[in-house]
Amino acid sequence: MLIPAHVTKGINIPSILDYIRNHCPKSTAKMPFVSRLFGPAALASMLKFVWKCMTTQLASSLFSELKGRVESRKAKVGIIGLGYVGLPLALLYSEQKFPVTGFDIDQRKVNTLANGGSYIFRISPEEIQSAKGSGFTATSDYSAITQMDAIIICVPTPLNEYHEPDLSYITNTAHAVAPHLRAGQIVVLESTTYPGTTEEVLIPILEKENRAGLTASRNGAATDKQFWVAFSPEREDPGNTQVARQDIPKVIGGLDAQASEIAAAFYGSIFRRTVLVSSPAAAEMTKLLENIYRCVNIALVNELKMLCLRMNLNIWEIIDAAATKPFGFHAFYPGPGLGGHCIPVDPFYLSWKAKEFDFRTKFIELAGEVNVAMPYHVIAATIGALNRHKKALNGAKVLVLGVAYKKDIDDLRESPALTIIELLQKEGAQVSYNDPYFPFVGRGRKYDLQMKCAPLDNFGQYDCVLIVTDHSDYDYKKIVNQAQLVVDSRNATRGIKSEKIVHC
Ligand SMILES: NC(=O)c1ccc[n+]([C@@H]2O[C@H](COP(=O)([O-])OP(=O)(O)OC[C@H]3O[C@@H](n4cnc5c(N)ncnc54)[C@H](O)[C@@H]3O)[C@@H](O)[C@H]2O)c1
Repeated sequence: MLIPAHVTKGINIPSILDYIRNHCPKSTAKMPFVSRLFGPAALASMLKFVWKCMTTQLASSLFSELKGRVESRKAKVGIIGLGYVGLPLALLYSEQKFPVTGFDIDQRKVNTLANGGSYIFRISPEEIQSAKGSGFTATSDYSAITQMDAIIICVPTPLNEYHEPDLSYITNTAHAVAPHLRAGQIVVLESTTYPGTTEEVLIPILEKENRAGLTASRNGAATDKQFWVAFSPEREDPGNTQVARQDIPKVIGGLDAQASEIAAAFYGSIFRRTVLVSSPAAAEMTKLLENIYRCVNIALVNELKMLCLRMNLNIWEIIDAAATKPFGFHAFYPGPGLGGHCIPVDPFYLSWKAKEFDFRTKFIELAGEVNVAMPYHVIAATIGALNRHKKALNGAKVLVLGVAYKKDIDDLRESPALTIIELLQKEGAQVSYNDPYFPFVGRGRKYDLQMKCAPLDNFGQYDCVLIVTDHSDYDYKKIVNQAQLVVDSRNATRGIKSEKIVHC
């Protein structure tokens, strides 16, 4: 039997096998010598074996090639979502001499970066320019994904209006990435989400919608039509200048051992320590445990703060004293309510998922209840404080100090200050705000304030100065001296003795 050239072209063994299957004569008389010797079935098995060896060889060379490129810092890194997480990560890889391309659907961000500018306060334009000098580029064109070796997804994971996980950013990213996937890439999801997202949501889209019939590598069963997938949560603490980003251990859960190995090599080139867990879901759950731990403990101290206020005790003094215990106590501090992208949001990803397993996460629900009530507690305390000055909140001039969700950062997301301003306005107060990080507060997903930052002087003109965020820049002594009344939700005025201060 002569196999035609178009079938053997490129040594495409599956085509050759098909050809043998379809064209093999029933009698072996006309077969070539090898086929006569072994028969068509044996020949087919031999060819299958050769094909398997070749593809395994190719797959293992894809694996060692990618690992080699990572280790020699030649691997092309694509970071999708250039926000508070993605942009610093892109800069870290760029500093370590990796060629980095950032992807974002927000063209304004892409343009700002292209012009050497920054839109995140703590990242200077000089850092962007230096990264650009090392080859960092930003684009909104997903076709460049094909050239990447590692693709890291850092897109938002908010809650929708019904307080349920909104995975649309992850699914949109997956739909956009899939057509440009090629064999031998690694895809890592960093967005915080419920256990199961990587395997149940991300991978199915990538597998279904890529053009080359690729599948995610599972159980190390390597073929040349595979890509690797892992989940590795982000652990950034905005505003924390004590712990360098590189010193924060990086948790990694690969879909199989090879994915973990590549991801560990990849993250190991910028983080001092990598911590491997058994699966993407275990890594997803690790991140949620960390955030739920914070959320529940903050709720505990918020509740105890309200009790202490009734008992005329200072909760901050008590926490500081308890924190001197050298073991078994970790200090958490009360405040006007939870803020940021993570703590008010992430725990509810788990409570939503838990329902699928007939399970109610009571601690998360209770903590949510206590924390959500805190801005209302601040309003009640402000009303009480004004009342003692024989004033009503309705018509009172109130200056809200600090709108960022925590001190010394430029992040407004889920900030309790936004709820507090809305509640004050609803009660008829004339509200102004000051925040060195926000000259203007316009419109967000859940608010539309259109307010301009008030100057930091003439505090005596306000009926009440309400401290919501304890930025380090504020001169609290001067504020207390000039103000008629100070309501302090952060213990920012600690050490200052004055009848004008009301802690809440
Ligand atoms: N900010 C933090 O401190 C922090 C800490 C730990 C974990 N996280 C998690 O990291 C993830 C990202 O958070 P963030 O704070 O960086 O969010 P962010 O809103 O600051 O940035 C997200 C970026 O993704 C872009 N984006 C959205 N959809 C996109 C798409 N389809 N393709 C390309 N770009 C897209 C947005 O334009 C934005 O620039 C979230 O899951 C968050 O929970 C955040």
